[in-house]
Amino acid sequence: MENTIELNRQRCNLNPEDGSVWLFGYGSLIYKVDFPYLECRPARIKGWVRRFWQGSHDHRGTPQAPGRVVTLIPREGAQCLGLAYRVTPDTFSHLDIREKNGYLRFSTRMIFADGDEAPGLVYVATEDNAAFLGPADEDEMARHIARSRGPSGPNSDYLLRLAQALRELGEQDDHVFLLEQKLLRLDT
Ligand code: SIN
Repeated sequence: MENTIELNRQRCNLNPEDGSVWLFGYGSLIYKVDFPYLECRPARIKGWVRRFWQGSHDHRGTPQAPGRVVTLIPREGAQCLGLAYRVTPDTFSHLDIREKNGYLRFSTRMIFADGDEAPGLVYVATEDNAAFLGPADEDEMARHIARSRGPSGPNSDYLLRLAQALRELGEQDDHVFLLEQKLLRLDT
């Protein structure tokens, strides 16, 4: 399994001297918060859409049978809603391990609900990473998620918890909600 821990350490977008750094979470980082933070606020970033196009070898699948999790895909004019966490720089040593299966830290600007903006970091698994799966028919993606599981649990939990968290944030994410609907139909 390719692992991005060292690549992220070499990136120059994290200054250990900074008192705090904003992290933008749009997938499991929204609902599974296993790191300390100083502040958390809903935020958007511009130019990206959330898609279940990344393979998961280490959390919701295995190297032999990868699951499907979200990454961000560039899309002009789009915005993606998530949660922004203000964390201390040392938190990234844990996050780099958690996000090691293809995600690289990118600099971004987050826009809060009141219009305030702040620079920060976001983990994106770009299409050139070894675990990238890319698009597929939605019925196939739902079946793939339904049958996958990994060390962090069933892939279906990832989708259902993300969909629920987005609903609670008041976000209408057609891609996530369509997959959720298709997954739930498979169960009945
Ligand atoms: C994120 O949540 O921001 C990154 C993708 C993931 O860990 O699910």
